[in-house]
Amino acid sequence: GSGRGVSSAPEECSVDSRCALEEVRGVPLLERIAAHWDRVAAFQAFPQDLLIATYPKAGTTWTQEIVDLILHGGDAEKARRAPTHIRMPFLEMASPNPALAGITELEQMEPPRVIKTHLPIQLLPQSFRETGCKVIYVARNPKDNMVSYFHFDRMNLIQPEPGPWASYLKKFMDGKCKLAWGSWYDHVKGYWKEKDRRNILYLFFEDIKENPAREIQRIAKFLGHHLSEEILHNIVQLTTFDAMQENPMANYSSIPDTIFDRKVSHFLRKGEVGDWKNHLSPEENAAFETHYMETMSDCEIPFRFVI
Ligand code: A3P
Repeated sequence: GSGRGVSSAPEECSVDSRCALEEVRGVPLLERIAAHWDRVAAFQAFPQDLLIATYPKAGTTWTQEIVDLILHGGDAEKARRAPTHIRMPFLEMASPNPALAGITELEQMEPPRVIKTHLPIQLLPQSFRETGCKVIYVARNPKDNMVSYFHFDRMNLIQPEPGPWASYLKKFMDGKCKLAWGSWYDHVKGYWKEKDRRNILYLFFEDIKENPAREIQRIAKFLGHHLSEEILHNIVQLTTFDAMQENPMANYSSIPDTIFDRKVSHFLRKGEVGDWKNHLSPEENAAFETHYMETMSDCEIPFRFVI
């Protein structure tokens, strides 16, 4: 066998192994990522590769599933060949635990590869710029993104402790954001500003939710694929929240409970637009909006459902 057992996690992924953060060029990253930064920076991308870039919890996994289905002509069986993180590894991640597959797996794959990253644009390995390889960026309205990240940090035992909600909200809004992968504001702006100069398709979680068929067609076109009505319909059905939640190859069920504490929360948690209304108090919401207007005033990104 491949030895890709996921039942026994090494000690470093045990419950008391929540990872500390370490800054790389001013961006806080998980220590385990910072520790092998030279290797990430030297990663060799190829022109045929595709990069899916997001701030954590913006809809990465959903987009990965859509992309993989497009590339396989809507064939559900082919998309079920392996779990998400094996099919489309996480660029900056590395660990002896195969549940956290990343750069090692990528280096062993032949291009064209579909690569996942949460790195802000200024930290992408140089080779992505040099090869001009395609990038799909997905952004999600900051309130829902923040709520989703909060619950993820609660359940993902290798992420830093989120602490109470009120302090998490402050951390998210802080210009020197101390959440893993840094400031949401800098992240979404960084890719937005480069989208016309580089080969970036900039998508929004809320658009995919509103009209998945339309957004799936946009992605297919960007990838140079034509989808028949029937294939398009199949991909829409296969990538609903419910379908993915039940699909063991798309719901991260292969990640052991020693890493994802499912008693606390699930990877596919709600998949909704507007869940922030259940988390932000009216006062918190008002403070968030004032801060948002100021912080985003230098960049006209058409986020909906923020104000
Ligand atoms: P919630 O926590 O709000 O439920 P990422 O893949 O970037 O980590 O993002 C995870 C978020 O995307 C979670 O948000 C998850 O439920 C949501 N998501 C994943 N697949 C989805 C789908 N098919 N439809 C809607 N939301 C989805």
